[in-house]
Amino acid sequence: MQSAAIVTGASRGLGLALCTELLARGFAVAALARTQGDGLASLAKAHPGRLHWLSADLSDAAQQDSAIARALPFLDQGERLLLINNAGVVWPVAQAGHYDDNALRHAISLNLTAPMVLCNRFLADTAGWADRRILNVSSGAAAKAYPGWGVYGTGKAGLDHFSRHLALEQAASVKPVRVAAVYPGVIDTDMQAEIRLARLEDFPALPRFLALKQEGALDTPKAAAGKLLDYLLGERFGEQPVADIRALP
Ligand SMILES: NC(=O)c1ccc[n+]([C@@H]2O[C@H](COP(=O)([O-])OP(=O)(O)OC[C@H]3O[C@@H](n4cnc5c(N)ncnc54)[C@H](OP(=O)(O)O)[C@@H]3O)[C@@H](O)[C@H]2O)c1
Repeated sequence: MQSAAIVTGASRGLGLALCTELLARGFAVAALARTQGDGLASLAKAHPGRLHWLSADLSDAAQQDSAIARALPFLDQGERLLLINNAGVVWPVAQAGHYDDNALRHAISLNLTAPMVLCNRFLADTAGWADRRILNVSSGAAAKAYPGWGVYGTGKAGLDHFSRHLALEQAASVKPVRVAAVYPGVIDTDMQAEIRLARLEDFPALPRFLALKQEGALDTPKAAAGKLLDYLLGERFGEQPVADIRALP
């Protein structure tokens, strides 16, 4: 197999759509999530030997540490290897002074610490691959503050800034890995359904997200995954360390 990918948050939503599209494009995929779900189970059946689900709770430090080492044995060494840090949670949706502290710690661990640890291990352990690329799935919430999304937006802003550091470091390295944090747009997934369940007093932007759904303005996971992969696999990937998929030419 010439091309392979490690995808986190692969069981539902954007992550599952990314796995589906990667398989269609000939990749072998190591898919990490806490659950397999019907989606990954049927992909594994349809693509025997090319889709491997690995049960991983990436909010847990030990499972963050072992994730890349567990995934690599399922991927034959080839030319191109992708890491897509996609797993994320939007909770807690609350304003400072009202956070559940454990939910705060869990969100930062999953949304920020996990991708940093996975990038670190990926850079250290995959030097034999000729073309390595890292896509950190970020959010417009990294750049714009929404009351109630302080935890989510801060985690994503951290991911953006980490990606800027990685991009500079890699540009100066002998065998640079291409890296970018990318805002994928607004996508019709469980995460958006959870956002619509927030209380207005916690999240004053709620009406905007209710309206986007009512107006049919959300991207399908399939469409969003297609755009992200076109960008990730293209020549221009990595030119901007932080990019909004909606603003690309
Ligand atoms: N949807 C949007 O409009 C939107 C917009 C901007 C950015 N994003 C970003 O896009 C990414 C995917 O979002 P989505 O909308 O597809 O979310 P989603 O539908 O809620 O799916 C989240 C995925 O993450 C996995 N996950 C959750 N907790 C995990 C944990 N502790 N360890 C490992 N995996 C875990 C889930 O699988 P399990 O439950 O099986 O573990 C699931 O596969 C996120 O980073 C999100 O911030 C989404």
